[in-house]
Order: sequence, then C-alpha cells, then structure tokens
Amino acid sequence: MKRTILFLSLLLTVAVASVRAKTLVAYYSYTGNCKAIANALSGQIAADVLEIQPAEKGLKYEANGYALGTQLLNAINANPDEASSYPTIDPVSVSLDDYQNIIIITPLWWSQMAAPMQTFLFNYGAQMAGKNVGLIVSSASSGISGVETDCKRLVPNGKYYSKSLWIRSSQVGNASSLVSAWLQQINFTDQTQSDAMRIKVSDGTNTIIYELNETSAAASLYQMLPIEVAVQNYSNNEKIFYPPTAVSYGADCIEGDCPAGTLAFFSPWGNVVMFYGAASRYSGLYILGKAIEGAGHVSNLAGIIRVEALGDTSGIQPMRADNGQSASRSYALNGRVAEEGRPGIIVRDGKKVVIK
Ligand SMILES: Cc1cc2nc3c(=O)[nH]c(=O)nc-3n(C[C@H](O)[C@H](O)[C@H](O)COP(=O)(O)O)c2cc1C
Repeated sequence: MKRTILFLSLLLTVAVASVRAKTLVAYYSYTGNCKAIANALSGQIAADVLEIQPAEKGLKYEANGYALGTQLLNAINANPDEASSYPTIDPVSVSLDDYQNIIIITPLWWSQMAAPMQTFLFNYGAQMAGKNVGLIVSSASSGISGVETDCKRLVPNGKYYSKSLWIRSSQVGNASSLVSAWLQQINFTDQTQSDAMRIKVSDGTNTIIYELNETSAAASLYQMLPIEVAVQNYSNNEKIFYPPTAVSYGADCIEGDCPAGTLAFFSPWGNVVMFYGAASRYSGLYILGKAIEGAGHVSNLAGIIRVEALGDTSGIQPMRADNGQSASRSYALNGRVAEEGRPGIIVRDGKKVVIK
C-alpha cells in the first residue's frame, strides 16, 4: 500500500508540474520608479522580467508642459483601435504561451497608462486572454482608475487579480514591502501553486531557486520537501547534501554534463549535488534541474540549509518529533492523524496529497 501511495503521489506531482505557471513581469519606466518596483517584485517571486522601451530614444515627455506625453495620449484616445495611434516600441521577443501570470508595471501619464506600455498591450493584449493579470501603477499623486480602464480595454479577456497596486513616486523607496503586502492580498502564491516543480534552497543568507525536471528522481526529492539538512563541501565545484529519506529513481533519469548551476542526484551515494563549477557526465549522476535564480550563491552555502517547494501554500509546517527530528506523518484536513491509504485529501509533511 505504501508503494501505491508513493506512486500516486508522484503521478500527482508530475501532473501538477505539467501545468506549471510561469510569471512574466512587463514594465515600462521613464524616470526609473517603475524599474525600481520591477526590481523589488522580481526579488520576491520567480519571474521573467521584460522592459518595454520606446523605439525613439531621448524623448523628453515632460518638456514644454508635458507636451509630448500629452500628444501621444491624445493620438491614442482619438483612435484607440488603430495600430498607428500608438508610439513604436523596440521589438520584444516574448512567447506569451509560456506564461500563466502577467504582471504589468507602468507609470501613469495624465491619469492614463503611459503610452509605450499601451503600445505593448495593444500588440500583445489579445494573447493574454485567460491569463492571470496583475497591474502595478506608479503616479505622483493621481488615482489609478484611468490606468485600470486602459488595461481592461487593451487586455479585455485577462483574469484580473482582485486588486491593483498603486505606488506613488514618494513611496518607491518602500516598494519591497508594498509589493510584498500586495502579493499576499491577491493571494499570489495560491495562484501560482501549480508552479510546483520549483524549489528554493537557502541557508538564510544565500538563496537559490531551482527548476526541477520531470524525472522520477526530481519528483521524489520534491515530494519529501520541506527538509532541513547540513550542506557539505565536495571537491572544488560541489555543495552536497544527504536527504533524510532515500531519493527513489527510475530508468527515466538523465545522465549528462553538468554546467555550473546544475542540481543533480548521485545515486551510488544517495546525495544531492549543487554544482557551482562544471562537471562532466558521470555514471549514476542524474540531472534533477537547474538554477534559475541565485546560481552565483551556491558556492557560499554553509551550515544548515532549508530546501522547500516554491508555491506550496498549504501553510502547514512539517511535524517535528520531541527529539527535533522531522516526523513524517499524514493528517486529514480536520487535523487528525490520517489512516494511510484511505482515499481522500491528506496533508503529509506540509503538502496536500490526493490518495485515490
Ligand atoms: C508625461 C507624464 C505625465 C504625467 N502625468 C501625471 C499625472 O497626471 N498625475 C500624476 O500623479 N503623475 C503624473 N506623472 C508622474 C509619473 O506618473 C510618476 O512620476 C511615476 O512615478 C513615474 O514613473 P517612472 O519613473 O517609472 O517613469 C506624469 C509623468 C509624465 C512623464
């Protein structure tokens, strides 16, 4: 029965991973405020960041009483359905199919969305249909409802988060905490819960985010998270740790060269390897994934590291036994110890698992 449960759990994990929700942060910034907000946001979530830039450089939108900014918006307002009404932007190479969450960060110009961001959304808004769309607006003092209206015109079929975030120019220094509070308000982590195969490794100072592949070894490691283990040095290019329970692996696992940033499993010894220098293919060394953030911090990891799933939001921490060791037990949603193998949803080590 135990094996059946593990198998079903692996199936669940792999199924979830196949609908992974990636996030795109698209921003435009004329005087740097929205850029600072984009930096604050991307430090808190795993996201790809895209800067929108006007094709014509060096324009002074604020000159002559904001004449140019006003002129650009007037042109859009006169013919909002015409591509020629929008100022040209630099080409962007983005495949929106890759993203389920899109966060737009834009300045407010005359109570509207800044013109270059309007161009981007005019060109790509239709491709955002059905995706989760978040809006962050920076203005000096004006309220942002006009920008929300522009956004809904340009991305009419987006699934908007419950609330936009307004950050005044004077608040930009506090952007990190404003963004963090907003992410909680809109339940952002819940919405990205399907981003299940990304993990965070941290010793409290150095943090790395890995994206796992869909092999059985990666799913097995993912399944036992969160864990806290000692990190050790090995050779001159590896940090390693021994998971508290054995990683199971099958014939689907992949051997290959391991560039810096690779996460791998060394099956003869049962340890996980975080490479900070390149290594060649080796028998029984299976690739689990790669660092998508913080690869440069791997070599600094020291002491006890916490390895946890990103986007896992059951909010229930793993059980600790009296001796401080983690006690792997399953609980029904009413908090009682669950009967292993009984169909239903249980919580095991802080994660929801469906037993069929
Ligand atoms: C052309 C233009 C028009 C603006 N219009 C307004 C406005 O109507 N109300 C307001 O509060 N701020 C207005 N601002 C100020 C910007 O919204 C604000 O400084 C914002 O933080 C700038 O973001 P950025 O630094 O990313 O460009 C305007 C700025 C420009 C350049």
